[in-house]
Amino acid sequence: MRGNSNIKRMMTALACAGSAVVVAACDGQMTTTVSSTADAGATPMVLATSDIEAGRYLVLVGGCNDCHTPQYAMTNGAQPPEAEWLKGSTEGHTGPWGTTYGKNLRLTTQRLSEDQWVELLATGSSLPPMPWPSVRAMSDADKRAIYRYIRQLPGEAGEQAPDALPPGVTPPPPAPPAGTAPAA
Ligand code: HEC
Repeated sequence: MRGNSNIKRMMTALACAGSAVVVAACDGQMTTTVSSTADAGATPMVLATSDIEAGRYLVLVGGCNDCHTPQYAMTNGAQPPEAEWLKGSTEGHTGPWGTTYGKNLRLTTQRLSEDQWVELLATGSSLPPMPWPSVRAMSDADKRAIYRYIRQLPGEAGEQAPDALPPGVTPPPPAPPAGTAPAA
């Protein structure tokens, strides 16, 4: 329908003018977007050359690696290589809530279907400092893109992150990253 495609083109133009959400493909040829979404329409979402690229972008700007990938925050993102991303961290976050650890999101996505992941991100809550309000605010399309990105990451899924510790319990020092010699 002509009317429809005009609206789509207008939205594309708006999206391209509107900056941060757009990853790529504003050069006339809109390949893009996550397929099979119910909420495409007017819902803001990341546009990229593929859903995997959209998911990678969201993980990067969403800061997921800061807490869910060991070494990442402490090396300013230089380590580890992408093949090791999101395997969970032994670097604890201690506060009045006790100590929490960024979970292994590869294992989480393995045990959940894509729809269950979308549901978790839409309704999730847990101890700090997991930024649930930010994650809940993502469109379903963006939640799906993150799932698809994580599921195609190479390498082993790795171990589960440590369980949270209650307030007042001193956490052990973080385990050395896999493949490195223990500190002398
Ligand atoms: C500031 C640190 C931090 C950031 C940034 C962060 N997380 Fe988390 N996340 C956590 C912690 C800590 C937990 C575990 C909380 C607990 O034990 O109650 C968690 C738990 C989760 C869980 C639950 C996993 C499970 O198996 O129960 C999901 C899903 C999740 N995070 C997704 C994300 C995504 C996606 C991003 C990026 C958009 C992200 N997180 C960014 C700290 C963070």
